[in-house]
Formats: sequence, C-alpha cells, structure tokens
Amino acid sequence: MIRLAVLASGGGSNFQALIDNVKNNNLDAEIILLISNNSTSGAIQKAKKSGIESLHLASSAYKNENDYTAALLGHLRRVKADLIVLAGYMKQIPNQVIKEYKNRILNIHPALLPAFGGKGMYGHFVHEAVIEYGAKFTGVTVHIVDEEYDNGPVVMQKIVEVKENDTPQTLAERVLSVEHDTYWRAIQLFAQNRIKTEKRKVILL
Ligand code: GRF
Repeated sequence: MIRLAVLASGGGSNFQALIDNVKNNNLDAEIILLISNNSTSGAIQKAKKSGIESLHLASSAYKNENDYTAALLGHLRRVKADLIVLAGYMKQIPNQVIKEYKNRILNIHPALLPAFGGKGMYGHFVHEAVIEYGAKFTGVTVHIVDEEYDNGPVVMQKIVEVKENDTPQTLAERVLSVEHDTYWRAIQLFAQNRIKTEKRKVILL
C-alpha cells in the first residue's frame, strides 16, 4: 500500500476527496500525514476528523530556510512517505525535497498546462485569466513537480468546457469538481506502479 503525505494550504476539498476515495477503496493508498503551512487551513480540520496526523509547518517558525527544509524532510522521512501530494499547497517545495523525492511529488493545477500556469497563476487568478483570454476549454492537470512552477511531466489531464456565461466562480466550481474526480485516479497509477518517465513524458505501463 502506497503511503501518501499530503501538503495543503487552503480549504482542503481535494484532500477530502482523496480521503473519501481511500475510504471507498478506489484508491489503494494510506494517507499518513497532512502538512499545512497555514494553521487555520480547513485541511487540518479535515485531517483531525479523519484521524490523520496533521502538522502546521511554517517556514517563518524556523531560523532559516535550511532549518525549515530539514524539518520538512525529517517529517517526510519519519512517516516513510512514498509519494508527496500537493493539494492546493501555496508554498514552493525546497529543491532538496524535490531532489530526494524525484518523480515522487505530484501537484494538481486547475487549468490545462502549459496554458495558464506558472508563478502567480493560482486560485481565482487562473480562472479569471482563462475567461479574460476567451478560451473555450480549460481543465485540470496532474503533473510531477520539478524545480520550476507548474512545469514537470504531465501525468493526467481532463478537459472542462468554458461556457459563455461563466464567471471565475462558476468556472472554478466546475473545475474543482473535476479535480476531485481526477487526482485519485492519477495517484492510483502510482499505487499500481504504472508510471514511468522518459525525459518529460510520462509513460503508462
Ligand atoms: C484547487 O483548485 C487546486 O487545483 C489548486 O488550489 C485549489 C485547492 O482547493 N492548486 P482545495 O483546498 O483542495 O479545496
């Protein structure tokens, strides 16, 4: 059984969807730790409710970035995480962590990368930009995390149609519900050991 450490900053609806899919046996994984940089994050409440260990880990509580990185790595090693799952995590992952968990950190982005991604493209900014641009389709991307924002190999993408009367809010809601039904499927591929990467291509075994 694959061991997941989830990192989340916000409401944690993606985190909850993972909990639910583990519970109903869709996802062959164990969620062993939830880390948040935000002490008031809904994700921490959701972890508590489900009996999952949760930690508030803020870089501001450490002397410097190195100490923070060491603490983060210490916890990930302690719980023997196989895969790190970013679910609305708003802080950049230190390079040392990316190196140690190469090809074992996933992120979900609420658009079809490489469109509408990169620094500053998060939350409502993404959906505003999609509507402003006049794109007819947007969607969801699950990708492996590397040193650059929203850049690593794509594991899975799903399409969402942009409707003429969409507002950033209505679009965000539809995209979010697709996220909930996508993330666990991508993680299940890791649980089944079906992922191989060749350069930036993910090959499904
Ligand atoms: C999602 O749209 C996710 O793609 C993005 O942040 C949002 C998090 O929502 N990275 P939630 O906290 O999972 O409800």
